[in-house]
Order: sequence, then C-alpha cells, then structure tokens
Amino acid sequence: TSAQAQTASRFPFKPIAAHTDAMVHVPEGFTSQVMVSWGDPLMSAADGYDITEGGPLEGSDMVFGENTDGMETFVFQGRQLIAINHEYTNRKTNLPAAQEGTPANADDVRKLQNLQGVAVIEVSEGENGWQVVKDSPFNRRIHHNTPMQITGPAAGHDLMKTQADPTGTQSLGTLNNCGSGKTPWGTYLTCEENFNGYFGSTAEVAEGDPAPLAPGYARYGIGTDGWGYDYHKWDARFDVSQNPNEPHRAGWIVEIDPTDPTSTPVKHTGLGRFKHENAAVTLSADGHVIVYMGDDERGEFLYKFVSNGTYATGGPTDGLLDDGTLYAAKFNDDGTGEWLALTPETTGMASLAEVLIFARQAGSAVGATTMDRPEWVAVNPKAIEAYCCLTNNKNRGVKPNAGGDETPVNGPNPRETNHYGQIVRWRPHDDDHTATTFDWDLYVMAGNPEVYNNVYGGSDNVTAGNMFNSPDGMAFDSNGLVWIQTDGDDSNEEDFAGQGNNQMLVGDPVTGEIARFMTGPKGCEVTGICWSADRRTMFVGIQHPGGSWPTGSGLPRSSVIAIKRDDNGLVG
Ligand code: FEO
Ligand code: CA
Ligand code: CA
Ligand code: CA
Repeated sequence: TSAQAQTASRFPFKPIAAHTDAMVHVPEGFTSQVMVSWGDPLMSAADGYDITEGGPLEGSDMVFGENTDGMETFVFQGRQLIAINHEYTNRKTNLPAAQEGTPANADDVRKLQNLQGVAVIEVSEGENGWQVVKDSPFNRRIHHNTPMQITGPAAGHDLMKTQADPTGTQSLGTLNNCGSGKTPWGTYLTCEENFNGYFGSTAEVAEGDPAPLAPGYARYGIGTDGWGYDYHKWDARFDVSQNPNEPHRAGWIVEIDPTDPTSTPVKHTGLGRFKHENAAVTLSADGHVIVYMGDDERGEFLYKFVSNGTYATGGPTDGLLDDGTLYAAKFNDDGTGEWLALTPETTGMASLAEVLIFARQAGSAVGATTMDRPEWVAVNPKAIEAYCCLTNNKNRGVKPNAGGDETPVNGPNPRETNHYGQIVRWRPHDDDHTATTFDWDLYVMAGNPEVYNNVYGGSDNVTAGNMFNSPDGMAFDSNGLVWIQTDGDDSNEEDFAGQGNNQMLVGDPVTGEIARFMTGPKGCEVTGICWSADRRTMFVGIQHPGGSWPTGSGLPRSSVIAIKRDDNGLVG
C-alpha cells in the first residue's frame, strides 16, 4: 500500500533477521567496528594493562571500565568527547581467581570501585576507524571514590551527614551508573540505579535497625549483605552499621562537565532519590527545564522535574536542576493522566529534603501509578511527546521491597504476567512539557505473535519479522525516529522463540512501524546510544556479552561499537 511505501522510506535500510550467534549484525550496506573495550588504556601510563586474568589493581582507574551503559557525545574546541557510564562489574570476570568473584581483600574492592562509574574519552576517526585519543587532556575516569559535591534542597540535611562529612554536602563516588542524559548547556547527566547492592553491615543488626532509618532502608532494598560486592567488609563507608546515612548519599543524578577534567561532579538532590534509569531533558517554550526520569523497579514510578528558573542559551544554569518541583505520574485508565507534585504539603512529610531523599515513599503518599519497571525515557524532538520503556514485570503482586504499593494491572501496565514489556507515550496538554495533565497511549506492546494470538502476541505493530522483548535503552535521533534497545530473554525458546539475541530496533512515532536494525552477541544487552557530530557514525554499547566476544578468545569484554554506512551516509 502507499502507506507502507511511505513508511518504508523513513527507514533507510533493509531490516535484518533475528540472530542467535556470537556476533554483531547490522543491515546490508552498514559496517560495525569495536571502538573501545573494558581494560583499554585511556592514558599511556596504563599501557600494558592486561585483563587476561581479570586485570590488576594498578592502572584500573586509567582504563576503560566495565559494562558500558548510557553515553552522550559532546563537541568542544573541535574535539569529540563521549561520556560513558560503567554500570557495574561482572565480578567473576574481574576477579576470576576469587571464589565466585567475591572480593578477598581491600585491593579487590578497590579494583571493582575503579572499574565502575564514568569515563570521559576523546575519540577520533582515522584510517583504522574510530579510536580513543589516548592521553587526551579530556580523558578522565570517575569512579566510586571520586569527590562529588551535593547540592539542592537535601544537601546538608541531617540524613545526609556522615562522620567523614559532617556538612552533608561532600561525598565520594557515583554508584551504579545506568542511563544518561545531556543538558541544554552541554553537561553530562549520569544516573545512579542499583546503589543499594553495594551496602551491607559487618555488625549484627536487629530487625528494624537502625530503627529511625528502617522504613527507608526497606523501601530502597538496603540490607545487611549487599549483592556480593562485599565493599562493607573492606571499606567502612559502605558498612551501614558504621555509616548509616551513607546510602542516602547515593541514588541521585550526577552532573559532570566533560569539557573540564578538573571539575567536581555535582549530585543534584532536586531530582529526587530513587533507582534512576536515565534523565531525558527538554526545555519548555519559555525555557523551563524538564527532566523525565524512570525508577527501574517493579511497582515504582515515573517522575518529572520542572525547574522554577528558565534557561536561555549561554545564560546561567545555577539551580536549574535543584530548584523546582518534582512530580510523580498518575495514569488514569481512560487515557488521561496527571503529574502529582511531591511536596511536604501533598505528602505529609516533614521537609522537602525528606520528600526528595525518600521520593519513593512520597510517590506512594500521593497515589502515583505503579509501573512495570520504568527504564529509559526519551523526548521526541519533532513532537511534544515523550516515551518510557516499561521493560517487563515477571512478578506482579510480589512487592520488590517492603513498603511498596500493591501492583495491580492498570492502564499502561495491562498484562498480568508481563514478560515482554511495553512502551508508554504521553502528550502533555497545551503542547507544554510543564503542564500537569497529559494524554497517554501505548506506542507498542511487545509480544510473540507466533506463539500467542491474544495480548501476549503484542500490539499491531509487532510482527514475526520485528519481534523483541524487554525494551530498555531508548533515544530519538535528529529525524524524530526512536531507537529501541533490548535487555531481555535471549533464550530464543518457548515464549521467546524467534526473538533471538538482544537487539536494537528503530520505530516511527507517526506510523508506529518498527524495524530491526542490529542484533548483539549472545548473552549481551544492547544499551547506550549516541552519534558522532556529523551523524555519520552511531555509537552503541554492548553490555555483559557472553562467550569471548569480541575477540573470540579469553574473557568477554563489554565494548562500545561504531556503526557506519558503507557509503558514509547519515545514520540518524
Ligand atoms: Fe541499569 Fe534499569 O537498567
Ligand atoms: Ca537499563
Ligand atoms: Ca534492563
Ligand atoms: Ca544492564
């Protein structure tokens, strides 16, 4: 039909099949290249860093970290810089000699801390494709011990103070850096997600202790054992029996100036504390800064921040990410919704600082809508609308953390067992992202139409040729097409038969059409996307690959790949 012919012209490639092998696949006429991998030296002082046995401690803060995630490109003084998150470490990869990857000493912990956080790298394209400019003055590693400044309404509150920082305004490190964001003034936002997993306790803790903090600990999943990093056994900062407020200093969004390697990253408490996925920033017509944010846990919420002040190109930015209103989303079943302000008045909480530190409880207090794990949000540059990946929810009704809400099926989360995921889209009323009301619909419900002919077959724009599960990473290109990355079940069996490895697709927001552009190596998740300044290269992150990708021997290495058209045409 003419409609199909019209939509086909918006995807300048032939969609590819699902794949189950250990390679990256891109369409005919495109080529991909590995640009940088875990352990690659960013400074020549780390030359010879050898990850064969998991890598040494020495130099681990001067190499590309592990498990690449969100990333953004910056152009400064004619140079191309990329800021890239290193979300977590596969401990069995970094500590292959240690039993089950469990740190055996403080050095093991320090190495893990060094290999996570953020990398800022300068990149350039030459005869051998894209490479890191080693020893660029902009190359920088930010990790779990890098000094940070804390700003905004919660800075200096008693709940933020520790023995080492009685001011509650200076902390160390940024933890579990998942998705990303970019401000209109050219800084990088890195989002702290599963920070709770690094904390534990060396002392017997009675149930309900530390008593005043117990509700917050429970809702945020902070326990005595952590997730196996065992930092608390070797680094007292992560031992909640010694530093009960330290967990309050993580779970924030951090702003980094990639153009100033000496700058101190800033934790903005105005944006709320939860398991941040990414930060989708846009400006309203009159210059207010809007930040859309997902809290990636079953039954948690979607958030929006609106600044009090406004931004004009080149103008001051102080307070724009701290001074404003944080909202949580309420979705009505009739296709409308509203943003509920989180304030001491609306929540009954004692102060704005506490509202922000315990944003999850604030969202519950106002009756926000529980969601199927909000991952990346993306704002359409060609229409006044935004999208959020609701990746999946395999355990509806089971509260992930004590103090959470019931999680019934509801409008944007319509399936009882949701192992495929969906993408919700909202259009603010009056075409204004500061509006407190909106209309919503589902852009896509993922599914398997080969296995089901009910809601589990997916929405009409899901076919045997483009099916996928667990949408997660997401970004718009400059043409207004939305790129969707997956982090799901890659067994290719039963309910997931025919879906293959995790992948990247592109969607047309106008027609709903979706086409598969790339598939990753077995075992990986595809996450993180940005473009070169000339938009002739697309950079994509491959996290936790399986096997021995990409070299074919030795340990698997998470990497950023560069994808180009063979005719050097635009790729978004
Ligand atoms: Fe780090 Fe929710 O993904
Ligand atoms: Ca993710
Ligand atoms: Ca995910
Ligand atoms: Ca991940």
